[in-house]
Amino acid sequence: MYLMDTYARFDVGFERGEGATLFDEDGNDYVDFASGIGVNALGYAHKKIVRAITKQAKNLLHTSNIYHIKPQERLAKEISKQIGYKTYTFFCNSGAEANECAIKLARKYGATHFKEKKFEIISLGNSFHGRTLATLQATGQDKFHPEIFAPYMEGFKFYSTIEDVIKNINDNTVAVMIELVQGEGGIKALDKDEVKRLAKELKKRELLLITDEVQCGVYRTGEFITSKLYDIKPDVITFAKGLGGGVGIGACVSKKSIFTPGDHGSTFGGNFLATSVGLATLKELKALKKDGEMDKISAEFNEHLDEVVKKNGKIFEQKQGLGMMLGLELKDGIDLAKIISLALKNRVLVLRSGVKTLRFLPPLNISKKEMKEGFARLQKALDEYQA
Ligand SMILES: Cc1ncc(COP(=O)(O)O)c(C=O)c1O
Repeated sequence: MYLMDTYARFDVGFERGEGATLFDEDGNDYVDFASGIGVNALGYAHKKIVRAITKQAKNLLHTSNIYHIKPQERLAKEISKQIGYKTYTFFCNSGAEANECAIKLARKYGATHFKEKKFEIISLGNSFHGRTLATLQATGQDKFHPEIFAPYMEGFKFYSTIEDVIKNINDNTVAVMIELVQGEGGIKALDKDEVKRLAKELKKRELLLITDEVQCGVYRTGEFITSKLYDIKPDVITFAKGLGGGVGIGACVSKKSIFTPGDHGSTFGGNFLATSVGLATLKELKALKKDGEMDKISAEFNEHLDEVVKKNGKIFEQKQGLGMMLGLELKDGIDLAKIISLALKNRVLVLRSGVKTLRFLPPLNISKKEMKEGFARLQKALDEYQA
């Protein structure tokens, strides 16, 4: 083995994919309810994505951000259009990088907008914002702050409720960063009224609301931004995962243009390949939403999951989440790891979230047939668990 030992991997490798189905090295098919952890929003080998990649590869993949990059400008415009208000975008390569950008943006705002410098960023307990040192520190779970990686950066605090976040805003606070649906923390959708109260409070004090939509954004919950479902217009939104249709991309999107040249940058961020595929992905997802197909698929997937809860009352407590970002909370004492490995054995891919939630992030265009087959396989796994 020549790889660093960073992942506890399942004993399977995939060779090819089609729609929401993956094929392993022996040609066995697996129904994918995980999408590479929310990345493959349009499944595998989607015609429009393949076309965008090949077309761009024939021209050029990368120049540098010291030159103009047309698809980057087009994607930034499309993002603003789909959000519904004027925004400025910085492109990078991952969710953690998008959040790093948001943190720097908030710090610059805090250093330039007020008489006294503000720098502190508050997040919520159970959140997850990335694996770099700053985003680890923004992550509101102590298990992500082990002593071996200390010292961490200063200027981050987290509280377990929105009420406590609001109470603890102080003279140093410049921004609050939240996931509207907590992806790694158990598929927990925040309460709409509380989020609106937080947004109002921050606006009143001219502080920034940052929504980390790395997992819940890009139509995952049914709208381009989950913020729309919450009736809020955040100052900063971060994206990654679904935005590139499988190609690595991240984006930090802001209502205010705060940076000036030299403040931030990335060699690969916003290159021709990632942004032209991002554009194709967003256009396809928008069309899927517009013709009603996306909502139909989501409703059907939700019905299947309701049925799973009903049929397996000894295992599951309840369904949670929004749109196609869903979780089944397990009853106490149920072995999550065992259920996931039995599902894998029955050739349906599902995920964990937190310690007691079975997570589902299927491709947003999953077919009826794949859905039916995937749920039949999941039921077999659950029957085996209960046998
Ligand atoms: C909400 C959220 N933010 C940030 C990240 C980090 O993204 P990346 O792994 O692309 O750096 C993730 C990844 O799971 C996430 O779910």
